[in-house]
Amino acid sequence: MKRKTLTQYLVEQQRMEQAVSAEVRLLIETVARACKAIAHAVGKGALGGVLGSLDSENVQGEVQKKLDVLSNEILLEANEWGGHLAAMASEEMETLHRIPNRYPKGEYLLLFDPLDGSSNIDVNVSIGTIFSVLQAPADAAGRDIEESDFLQPGNKQVAAGYAVYGPQSMLVLTVGTGVVGFTLDREMGTWVLTHEDMTIPEETSEFAINMSNMRHWEEPVKLYINDCLAGSTGPLGKDYNMRWIASMVADVHRIMTRGGIFMYPRDARPSGRKGKLRLMYEANPMSFLVEQAGGAATDGDTRILDINPEGLHQRVGVILGSKNEVERVGRYHLED
Ligand code: AHG
Ligand code: MN
Ligand code: MN
Ligand code: MN
Repeated sequence: MKRKTLTQYLVEQQRMEQAVSAEVRLLIETVARACKAIAHAVGKGALGGVLGSLDSENVQGEVQKKLDVLSNEILLEANEWGGHLAAMASEEMETLHRIPNRYPKGEYLLLFDPLDGSSNIDVNVSIGTIFSVLQAPADAAGRDIEESDFLQPGNKQVAAGYAVYGPQSMLVLTVGTGVVGFTLDREMGTWVLTHEDMTIPEETSEFAINMSNMRHWEEPVKLYINDCLAGSTGPLGKDYNMRWIASMVADVHRIMTRGGIFMYPRDARPSGRKGKLRLMYEANPMSFLVEQAGGAATDGDTRILDINPEGLHQRVGVILGSKNEVERVGRYHLED
């Protein structure tokens, strides 16, 4: 069977579907190349000296791991000089990163979570990279990009994807024409199309949530999880299974493959933070992918892709996955 590479897939999307411009095609290829370099570093582990923490904290107040910073640098360096970007933003940087003047600038904005699942780095469990592509506002041409240029709702994304570094490295991508998955052929160094038309089953009886936060959850989430735990004799009439990898990429990848519901809900913890996950680097790109695969994504009340962002590092409650189950949790919120 003839193998289709990421490059071929993107050329087809440009020629036949008009789904991507030449610039976006190059941009995605560059991100994919950076993910290959990150996969390589991750694979070396202790042999490459990439495990462990640094002394620094990021803007979210998290201790940075060596791989958080290394992956951020790999993505910045790969994408700076290609001429397709106006600016970048990342979970690991306090503010935006403008393209230096020595390079030509393009019209796109790239946002990323360079290394997702940091707590799993040192224990050899799947981790990943998440990215999102926006177009800079038309009035930004010829002036410096500002943070406010990034604050567009997720429904404006031009492309989104993630790489998961697990037993295999995979790249899962949408340019708005469904979701496709590529597996890294390590010998050839190419991303090969292995998962055409990824779709999420509408029904599920598998949930993913960090149960240790239960005391902080809002009432509708408490009620829903209680009903799940009640099993087949409870109000939902079925036995549920639970999974929690603590790498969003890996949990979402499972849902992309066999369905399920993933929740990191808003909560009422004393710190006052509204959920843990970041709208721009995690919730938006994953919601775009999940919707393109036939699933749904909400913060409980509002479709995630319709939220108007207020800050680059804004946190948001996330409930996503199999459509009927996400809608069920939405009804618990309506009744609240
Ligand atoms: P990151 O490593 O990019 O900071 O993201 C970690 C996130 C996400 O990947 C995961 O779903 C969640 O944190 C796990 O949080 P808990 O450790 O609270 O379960
Ligand atoms: Mn982090
Ligand atoms: Mn993350
Ligand atoms: Mn991260």
